[in-house]
Amino acid sequence: MNTPDTPTAEVARPSYYKRHIFFCTNQRDAGVECCAQQGAAEAFEHCKAKAKSLGLLGAGKVRVNKAGCLDRCAGGPIAVVYPEAVWYTYVDKADIDEIVTSHLAHGQVVERLLTPPHVGR
Ligand code: FES
Repeated sequence: MNTPDTPTAEVARPSYYKRHIFFCTNQRDAGVECCAQQGAAEAFEHCKAKAKSLGLLGAGKVRVNKAGCLDRCAGGPIAVVYPEAVWYTYVDKADIDEIVTSHLAHGQVVERLLTPPHVGR
């Protein structure tokens, strides 16, 4: 029997998507800084369109999703790619293009866009 401190054996299961990117598109009230103020919705749409144009979307491939606050606001705008759990801070469409063509398409992490590990809310 497992207890909370007992590690469970990892079970290899096929993933429905090979990679999944989530964009924080959180909007805060009263002008409080958030990813939505930094172009997150446009970045999400651009990523989705770019991935689609490259034939990356679909089962067994890539999924692009919006997310609420990912609680790493100080590094915003924020996106995270699973299963690698790689966190990105992007600035413009060229950054999104690089994430798509390098990481989403080929699994190559875009080191220059990594969110510093200590950055939180
Ligand atoms: S508002 Fe985007 S991570 Fe919190």
